[in-house]
Amino acid sequence: MKDHELQELLSRMTLEEKAGQLVQLDGACFGTRGITTGPQEALGITQETVDMAGSTLNVLGADTVRRIQENYLKRSRLGIPLLFMADIIYGYKTIFPIPLGLGCTWDPELIGRDYAFIGRESAADGAMVTFAPMLDLVRDARWGRCMESTGEDPLLNSRYGEAMVKGLQGDMVPGKNIASCIKHYAAYGAVEAGREYNTVDMSEMRLRQDYLPAYKAGVDAGCRMVMSSFNVLNGIPATANKHLMVDILRDEWGFDGTVITDFASIYELIMHGVAADEKEAALMAFRAQTDVDMQTGCYANNLADLVREGKIAEADLDRACMRVLKLKNELGLFEDPYYQADALKAQEIINDPAGKEAAVQTALEACVLLKNNGVLPLAKTGVRIALIGPYADTGDMLGLWAIHADRSHSVTLRQAFEQKLSPENFRCCTGCKTLDDPAELGDFGNIPVVTKNPDEETVRQWEKEAIEAAEWADVIVLAMGEHTLQTGEGGSRTDITLPAPQKELIRKLAAYHKPMVLVLFNGRPMALSDVEPYTDALLEAWFPGTYGALAVTDLLFGDANPSGRLSVSMPYTTGQVPVYYSHGRTGRPCAPGQRSRFTSRYLDAPNEPLYPFGYGLGYHKAVYGETKPDKTCMKSGETLTVSVSVRNDGDREGCETVQLYLHDCAAAVARPVKELKDFRRIVLKPGEEKTVQFTIDEEMLKYVHADCSYAAEAGTFEVMTGPDSERLSCAVFEYIQ
Ligand code: GLC
Repeated sequence: MKDHELQELLSRMTLEEKAGQLVQLDGACFGTRGITTGPQEALGITQETVDMAGSTLNVLGADTVRRIQENYLKRSRLGIPLLFMADIIYGYKTIFPIPLGLGCTWDPELIGRDYAFIGRESAADGAMVTFAPMLDLVRDARWGRCMESTGEDPLLNSRYGEAMVKGLQGDMVPGKNIASCIKHYAAYGAVEAGREYNTVDMSEMRLRQDYLPAYKAGVDAGCRMVMSSFNVLNGIPATANKHLMVDILRDEWGFDGTVITDFASIYELIMHGVAADEKEAALMAFRAQTDVDMQTGCYANNLADLVREGKIAEADLDRACMRVLKLKNELGLFEDPYYQADALKAQEIINDPAGKEAAVQTALEACVLLKNNGVLPLAKTGVRIALIGPYADTGDMLGLWAIHADRSHSVTLRQAFEQKLSPENFRCCTGCKTLDDPAELGDFGNIPVVTKNPDEETVRQWEKEAIEAAEWADVIVLAMGEHTLQTGEGGSRTDITLPAPQKELIRKLAAYHKPMVLVLFNGRPMALSDVEPYTDALLEAWFPGTYGALAVTDLLFGDANPSGRLSVSMPYTTGQVPVYYSHGRTGRPCAPGQRSRFTSRYLDAPNEPLYPFGYGLGYHKAVYGETKPDKTCMKSGETLTVSVSVRNDGDREGCETVQLYLHDCAAAVARPVKELKDFRRIVLKPGEEKTVQFTIDEEMLKYVHADCSYAAEAGTFEVMTGPDSERLSCAVFEYIQ
């Protein structure tokens, strides 16, 4: 449709029909299975509301979409198509590693290609908009939704956000690309104490410096939608926060796409205590230019009346409605309301080897080798290997948001090991329960994960098998981690160590003094100081996706060389949290290992994480040279080039992620001890040496001042390069204006 035709359509709509476009209802309202992703409120709506609803969520499948759209259009007075949105967070049918793993690839280009595949695979099956990427910055590992984030750094998250949005949307070709709805705007990752849905309160300076950049990167990349977050931000829930939604998002950033709420979050304005009833909640959210109401009756039952009462200008209702109509028009729905959904095409893409290859490659780059005393890579012959643990033989390593996954394609570690080992050299057993009491987990809609513990006799048998396998084996590979439902939405934990039954088994198996390799499947930076001493090697696999077991096995046996680098700090203990690399210096900084009482430190743990941001090992041996700036003084308007050489002294090719950090030594506000400013992935053959050059410009020196201005100022800077945020060489330069 042309714009004037859209305007003409709008002119024929009643107030109720305009309000209807701003209502999103789940599949249960359209006679199909609703994937419940939040509290199902008594919606208090009529069939007439359903017939006018503008969109639905998590209803997919080409045939289902076609059937529902056909029935819907028959009842639609003006023939405005329904919009199908879904949570396609890190894969549709083919599941990639969780975003926390994607964040550890340091390969935004690869991730952009992955998200183009994800868009293609889901669009063929009727998806039109996805509630992804999630761009919340995370620094509190107690929060379950760390798994959905790419990590703790604003720059790195921004690079991924841009790549994911552009990958999903491509050229917005119907049936091939899908529109991106970034979320959860804003700062949901900073919930107090890491407790789900909790309050967020921070200075505007920190908000803008650390938490907003990735959302802005998503907006600048052209995302079509933004989702408001559940949390209060500085006293006002995001969904009704005009400063956030209008001043910043629309006025400063120029976003004129659609804002949708998170699940039922308009109704939750009443729970937050800022609205007396649904009508007031609707008014507050609408005044913040929150356009679409997900899964409540607030807008459906009140917007038209609010216009009639003069509390909302019809022009504002038109503006919100037009945003939705324009998105539908851009997706070509007025010409093809079925979005070219095609079950056969969808199945071809789902079975396309290119998708499996992409998922394996990404999982290879997402895994992080945290420790290796030489036990890895494992030999494929002549060594008896026991694979033990709850993740030894399960396809459930997809993570919480794999709600549309084709689980029949999942490969287990046992299956992957069997492809490399002869039967006489390999044993596999579960060994222990995942956790003591699955009842604490609750449930998460239709996620088919095991949430029942076996009977005690079975558990005893499991342990007996594990002990026998440990006695038999030359090497033990432990496949352990968190239960899927211990992470993700509603998955906050006050103890972020490995669950007790698994720790207990590790201690028992350690008595057999066999080399032990621990492979971790988890959705947050876990505290590992109580298990790390028992291990000879530690491989962090996150939840690596449908084909992640193939990648993990290739890495363990040396058919691939680990290249992942942490995008989050891994704490020693829960008590260290939040722990992150770009921390303040304080007035009494404590050098690593220093013990003087009157310095910023703990009595019972170091300040530093067990494994720092940017860290990861490989099977090669990288040697870094010194950081060499090409001048010691950078004038305003100039740039400065920093060089660092990297040599591979190992006997196999390896990938290094060379990292560049800056520290503003004396600024108008207390600045972090360092901040990531650039990075470069390089591949080095054995004996090869490369020199990496970074260009520093004024933009890199800017920061948010106390008055929220964003500017650089003259002064001394430390510039650092190295393989991670701790092993750095440093040089100094002056910036003069
Ligand atoms: C959930 C999540 C959000 C998701 C939405 C729709 O509660 O917070 O990330 O996109 O509801 O399922």
